[in-house]
Amino acid sequence: MSNSKGLKLVDRDDDGVDRAFREDVLKGLSQQQKAVPARWLYDDAGSQLFEDITQIPEYYPTRAETEILTDRGAEFAEAIGSGRAVVEFGSGSSVKTPLLLQCIDPAAYVPLDISGDFLRASAAELSAKFPGLPVFPVEADFMRRVELPGDVEDMPKLGFFPGSTIGNMVPSTAVDLLRTMRQTLGAGSQLLIGMDLIKDPDILEAAYDDAAGVTAEFNLNLVRRINRELEGNIPVEQLRHVARWDDDYARVEMHLEAQDSVTFAVAGRDYEMKAGETIHTENSHKFDRRSSNTLLLAGGWTPVMRWTDSKGRFSLILAEASIARSAP
Ligand code: AVJ
Repeated sequence: MSNSKGLKLVDRDDDGVDRAFREDVLKGLSQQQKAVPARWLYDDAGSQLFEDITQIPEYYPTRAETEILTDRGAEFAEAIGSGRAVVEFGSGSSVKTPLLLQCIDPAAYVPLDISGDFLRASAAELSAKFPGLPVFPVEADFMRRVELPGDVEDMPKLGFFPGSTIGNMVPSTAVDLLRTMRQTLGAGSQLLIGMDLIKDPDILEAAYDDAAGVTAEFNLNLVRRINRELEGNIPVEQLRHVARWDDDYARVEMHLEAQDSVTFAVAGRDYEMKAGETIHTENSHKFDRRSSNTLLLAGGWTPVMRWTDSKGRFSLILAEASIARSAP
């Protein structure tokens, strides 16, 4: 895969192995607490399983955020105004975007995604729904500063980062990303960002360990991917999906727990796990009003408005690019 400048976004070796994937997995499995970065959960099968997760009864975030976008259109219009270029970070297969675009009368839509296929599909779909709206898709890794198309240079920007994807990052990474977004979007920009809220741990754990086992499949798919792409033989049937709330870090952690002591190999290296030992596969941080404000401020964004769904489960926050000024 390469972007518009011909830069390779995925670096593969002669055997077609994604080098970054292999490096992350080998390094992560060698740690005391085994861990694999959550981004590797999202291959085609994983992305489809996540779409399935958004439909299960226990997983409330997608429905809660969609409710806000559906019900509060007039308030978004008032706070955001018209004529902005909407820059969506990780457009994926978003169904939320039209809900936003239809209420704010934007001047352009710029979806950013690392997957060219997703990007082209969502850009085409959006163009069909909003015939007069200029759409400029950009194939890019949004964790890095992105050069926006010249066409939107002079337009005020609105960054859109729904889904509480920011919650997948540890605070230092989240702050880096927010600062990068601030650089990408520039002075005078706004950011509309979704953040899931802290709530009863039973509700949180159920959202990440549904009765139908879809989230378990999503988590185990990572191991299937490792076995397939990195010549691994991790015994999938010996691993159990675990979701647990960590109150100190305010996050739900997903792990894969060995039911028995196991040995396996990945890309020619040997590993072992004792019974009860886990591979940490994802964090999903949750926020309250103060912690979300602190995170945004640390990333160079000043919160100006916030909306929550009728059950108080999820928040959408509008922030403005902070102006650098001296402070005590
Ligand atoms: C896609 C990051 C928003 O953390 O809630 C859902 C991913 N993982 N169930 C989340 C996820 C397990 C999801 N995000």
